[in-house]
Amino acid sequence: TLPKHVHLIDVGPRDGLQNEKTPIDTAIKIELIERLTAAGIRHLEAASFVSPKWVPQMADGAEVLAGVKRKPGATYAALAPNMKGLEGAQAASADEVVIFGAASEAFSQKNINCSIAESIERFRPVAQAALADQRRLRAAISCCLGCPYQGEVPIAAVVDVVQRLKDLGTQVFCIADTIGVGTPEHTKRVIEAVAGVIGIERISGHFHDTYGTALANVYACLELGVSTFESSVSGLGGCPYAKGATGNVATEDVVYLMHGLGIETGVDLDALIDAGAWIAEAIGRPYAARAGRALLAK
Ligand code: HMG
Ligand code: MG
Repeated sequence: TLPKHVHLIDVGPRDGLQNEKTPIDTAIKIELIERLTAAGIRHLEAASFVSPKWVPQMADGAEVLAGVKRKPGATYAALAPNMKGLEGAQAASADEVVIFGAASEAFSQKNINCSIAESIERFRPVAQAALADQRRLRAAISCCLGCPYQGEVPIAAVVDVVQRLKDLGTQVFCIADTIGVGTPEHTKRVIEAVAGVIGIERISGHFHDTYGTALANVYACLELGVSTFESSVSGLGGCPYAKGATGNVATEDVVYLMHGLGIETGVDLDALIDAGAWIAEAIGRPYAARAGRALLAK
């Protein structure tokens, strides 16, 4: 049986915007976050404390987190690849720290400039400090279903990095299909293997829609009992270190699917669509959420 309720993490303000080449005003990022929480989103990635040379668009994370009117009970997460990032997340009072590694050596090098083993050593003090501070700790694992540089990624490599991140005290594990190559049976094999290490309830599915399979993979996860998903309002995004990858699955489409299945999300789909159409226009992108476009056309 499918879960009765799912927990959605909107990564649009971070994963969705990080790759935009034209600088986006801090005020727009703040308004996006406030529109998402007004629509019922209770968990989102608000900022990324990474090198501004690597990802210039995320350089104003401190201002974004300082400017947002926080909804009580909502979780405002920030990415932190190292202690400098963690200090940024602490100073900005992020509720949750996200460390981010990869199941592929090649991707780890391109994304965070170190090997997987080195990344774990960098994350260790970050994880300790985040937990000591009563912040939540999530880990994102890129390339769980394929890598833009090395191609296939063995399931054993995903399980290995999950095990190492578990040892750091990670609470939630984001299993990411960074380049959107996954298909449902492959997704199920990966999720089942990871669930064997950490349990299904600690898995968050993060799918990109490059090949149009993201929603099918979400459904495959639901069938296994996964009840946390990451998605991006308006389907914004793409990873700067994963050429050709499209955005995340659109939150609107995930919400439409869930409501159609009788699964609660806590999200007001119409308000979410308003937020999605608004941000697409604000950054000069076509509105990419299918359910959003269809409902607006009605
Ligand atoms: P590095 O060059 O090896 O780092 O980069 P370093 O420690 O040698 O420092 C170099 C410079 O960066 C120094 O400045 C540091 O101060 C600065 P300089 O002395 O040259 O002026 N620096 C920082 N500045 C601000 N905040 C920091 C920070 N750290 C160092 N935290 C590093 C290593 C990890 C920093 C770099 O590779 C980096 O920033 N990478 C970020 C890449 C990124 O953000 N990728 C996108 C997020 S992951 C993703 O989108 C995937 C996900 O959605 C899941 C999925 O779909 O797969 C999560
Ligand atoms: Mg992503």
